[in-house]
Amino acid sequence: MGTVAGQIVADRITGAENPHAGLFSPHRVSVSSAPTLLQQNAQVAKDLIGDRLLPAEGTRADDLAADSARVLPDGAGKKGVYRDRAGGVHAVSLRCTHLGCLLRFNGAERSWDCSCHGSRFDVDGAVLEGPAARPLPRRDL
Ligand code: FES
Repeated sequence: MGTVAGQIVADRITGAENPHAGLFSPHRVSVSSAPTLLQQNAQVAKDLIGDRLLPAEGTRADDLAADSARVLPDGAGKKGVYRDRAGGVHAVSLRCTHLGCLLRFNGAERSWDCSCHGSRFDVDGAVLEGPAARPLPRRDL
């Protein structure tokens, strides 16, 4: 999207028409798009609250199979534990560092993903994709 944004901005500066400008206009939200906007924000709110109500998937990680993950309690919150193929265990807070949604494990990518705005973190908490900019805090087992 950065390339398209750059083209739109350049066209705005030079006064040229850009066929994609309307798609990115901050004024593109209309009454007709309100239901979709509300539906998407309701889903974010549901994920933000609903995931916190889900029980942890256990209390221990010693029986965790290789190349799998589990959600464990972490005080009042939750932590995600992943056991790699060599048997190493990686534990991180599951509270997204963007706005606090709870992360879910993505087994295909071996990452902790946020359903609220799309941030992704590796099993040690490093940011793979934003909008989050800070890594996840590591946790002890
Ligand atoms: Fe996770 Fe926004 S709360 S990306």
